[in-house]
Amino acid sequence: MIERILPSVIAAHHAFDDAVDAELFPQEAAVVAAAVAARRREFATVRRCARESLATLGIPPMPLLPGERGAPLWPRGTVGSMTHCSGYRAAAVARADEITALGIDAEPHQPLPEGVLDAISLPEERAHLSSLGADRHWDRLLFSAKESVYKTWFPLTHRWLDFHEASVSFQPAERTFIAELLVPGPRIGEDEVRRFHGRWLVDQGIVLTAIALLPARPNLRQVARLGCA
Ligand SMILES: CC(C)(COP(=O)(O)OP(=O)(O)OC[C@H]1O[C@@H](n2cnc3c(N)ncnc32)[C@H](O)[C@@H]1OP(=O)(O)O)[C@@H](O)C(=O)NCCC(=O)NCCS
Repeated sequence: MIERILPSVIAAHHAFDDAVDAELFPQEAAVVAAAVAARRREFATVRRCARESLATLGIPPMPLLPGERGAPLWPRGTVGSMTHCSGYRAAAVARADEITALGIDAEPHQPLPEGVLDAISLPEERAHLSSLGADRHWDRLLFSAKESVYKTWFPLTHRWLDFHEASVSFQPAERTFIAELLVPGPRIGEDEVRRFHGRWLVDQGIVLTAIALLPARPNLRQVARLGCA
């Protein structure tokens, strides 16, 4: 499902539950040794998805450990992102020379709990959401888009990004969104990134959002391979 909103150059795998036993490397098992069983299972399933995605790129299985502030440490020369929510787990990876940074997020397609929208949004975003149709839980889509923004942002900057430091707007007909960064953005080559462009999908009761940041000046081969799967 997640592959529908990712360029085909990105390898992605998903699971709807933890039914298939997923093995962890000892270093990974140590990370979640004290966690509850549900957390251990989602941690393992999403790593199975990530290893399947890496295999598509020809990269053999290896431990995928959390690094600084929980951001996963991907094999050298790759970028990636992982997500898990009730009923869905997914991982996506790409070669770093084709995709500069990547963020994916999954959420249940349900309204946010009381009070959360006010905490995570700007007044202009709340006005924008109220102008959109009632056919989607746009508050949840906004939350998910912001999680994808952070997962894209963090590996580039190694800095926290507050929910009020990016302003997200949706283009419903195109199933896209734009996140304007309200603080100085990461530098890619000589250019400062001012906004992230993302895609979204609602299917099977799940909200999915994804951002794939391209190299500053993609070459023709890279442009040709960027169509969605
Ligand atoms: C880290 C965070 C984005 C995770 O999102 P989530 O919806 O809670 O959980 P998900 O299941 O979708 O994603 C969890 C995965 O994100 C990844 N992740 C965790 N921290 C990360 C970071 N700093 N950078 C990139 N990826 C990270 C991990 O792979 C993690 O899975 P794992 O622990 O099994 O390895 C979220 O908990 C958070 O801290 N958000 C606050 C910051 C923010 O969103 N700012 C908004 C800016 S507009």
